[in-house]
Amino acid sequence: MRKFGIIGVGHVGATVAYTLVCKGIADELILIDKNEGKATAEQLDLQDAQARLDTRTIIKTQDYTELEDTDVLFVTSGNIHALDNVSGNRWAEFEYTREIVKDIAPKIKASGFDGVLIDTMNPCDAITHYLQRETGLSKQQCFGTGTFLDTARMQKVVSDVFDVDPKNVTGYVYGEHGESQFSAWSTVQVNGLDILDLAQDQDLDLSELEEKARHGGWAVHSGKGYTSYAIATCAVKLSEAVLSDAKLACPCSSYSEKYDTYVGQPSIVGKNGIESVTELPLPDDEEAKFKHSADTIKEKFATL
Ligand code: 2OP
Repeated sequence: MRKFGIIGVGHVGATVAYTLVCKGIADELILIDKNEGKATAEQLDLQDAQARLDTRTIIKTQDYTELEDTDVLFVTSGNIHALDNVSGNRWAEFEYTREIVKDIAPKIKASGFDGVLIDTMNPCDAITHYLQRETGLSKQQCFGTGTFLDTARMQKVVSDVFDVDPKNVTGYVYGEHGESQFSAWSTVQVNGLDILDLAQDQDLDLSELEEKARHGGWAVHSGKGYTSYAIATCAVKLSEAVLSDAKLACPCSSYSEKYDTYVGQPSIVGKNGIESVTELPLPDDEEAKFKHSADTIKEKFATL
């Protein structure tokens, strides 16, 4: 029985739920929201879709005790409306989301949940760390989408330039799911060719691409007031790697022993959550950016 939980069925949580149901990944789904009516409405709407889908998902609401035997729990209770897309700073959400953690962490702990928790709330890295600390889950079990989403945006931006499928762009955005992130161009290839060589040959300004990737979320937010499809797709992809024990190599917000903080870095995701972290040999300039970004997260987490 593949069982999922979603705490927070706003734009992101509802899109995660819809994706799980349409892809037929979940046998059972628990929707929890501070607004019971919203959770019930999402349940009913998804149930109404079942007659037109090839699979069936049992959908329940509000009952934290259902989390005891849940395999993957998404925490998607952010409030992107708290953000000022002019500042482009996800830390604006911190005062709201840390209060959510104070509310839900004891309930998750009391439920006996012992599966894998995937956080999308912002500021992702610090909130994921806060969730891990307050729920008592291990640093393996609890991780965040982090720069898995920023890397998807980098892949999109680069694929537009070279007219390739974004999946043919490999490599990582490291660091904070926020302003101090950076595209580690030393890790990026297009159709297997190093982008640093391609950029030199074609006189390409990589810093422009990096900026577009870094602010891709704000481009969406400025038009519709939130983001949902990309973040939800990233979260569901990570949950599939957990359920299938895929040992997926991907960037996500995981705990760095080296920098003593959660931060976006190459990780291996499998049935236990973060199976391991891959420390790539970055050039000095990129390692310095990585350390700066990790320190930025650590300093702000220390205020909790
Ligand atoms: C984003 O960048 C919600 O922080 C998320 O779309």
